[in-house]
Amino acid sequence: MNGLRVVRTPADLRALEGTIALVPTMGALHDGHVQLMKHARPLADTLVVSIFVNPTQFAPGEDFADYPRTWDDDLARCAEAGVDIVFAPEVATMYPYGTDDQVMVDPGPLGAILEGELRPTHFRGVLTVVAKLFGLVRPDVAVFGEKDYQQLALIRRMAETLCLGVEVVGCPTVREVDGLAMSSRNRYLEPAERERAVALSQALDAGVAAGSQGVDAVRAAATARLADFGVVPDYVAVTSPDLSDPTSGEARLLIAARVGRPRLLDNRALTLGPTPEGS
Ligand code: PAF
Repeated sequence: MNGLRVVRTPADLRALEGTIALVPTMGALHDGHVQLMKHARPLADTLVVSIFVNPTQFAPGEDFADYPRTWDDDLARCAEAGVDIVFAPEVATMYPYGTDDQVMVDPGPLGAILEGELRPTHFRGVLTVVAKLFGLVRPDVAVFGEKDYQQLALIRRMAETLCLGVEVVGCPTVREVDGLAMSSRNRYLEPAERERAVALSQALDAGVAAGSQGVDAVRAAATARLADFGVVPDYVAVTSPDLSDPTSGEARLLIAARVGRPRLLDNRALTLGPTPEGS
């Protein structure tokens, strides 16, 4: 397995030399993760991938226990992508005082909208574990996918606000040939659901095409395309790239919807025309 080393304890990480790039993951790696690794590889001397299914970002009743765990395949993909170190800590290593009794990172108002409205404790768990990984691995740069766009925006904001000294880099979403954004949870889709799942990327295309007509037209076009597939969204939102409200110019269209068992998320950049008079 080339020079790949699996490391389980923070002490083993202290021996790393030179600059460090980190790709945090929860395993169940797919081609989207491999692209993150390939993007990160030339950015530093040592490339670390963390594999840790983080309990604090799952609410009770969510899929923590049966989140896909594909260890052997994950290691093969890491080796193939030129990763130096896989950091795979135990829960007790990451949460020495337990998962309930912790100092946690408060994501603030941006963590309470969109995904945060539906999953109120999610981003608190994500930011906490990412802050811990930054503290343990001490990366110079960390690479995340744009697929989880709100997560990326919040991690950027955290790194800046808490002065963590890590450059946060976002990578474009990797898609299946029909446009479905790659995700570890896509494997939960039954065949008929897999066909309907393309609704999200098609809705994004429709929304982006309506950009010159303003926010309402974008949301209407995207929602109509979802309805063609019988998909009812949790939200179809248009925001500025940093998740505040846009009126015109550069923006982001974000969609979330349950298709069968998994909730699917997707997003695209778009350019908005001015909001029509009187609307
Ligand atoms: O995107 C993920 O896989 C997770 O949310 C992350 C960033 C690895 C934190 O557990």
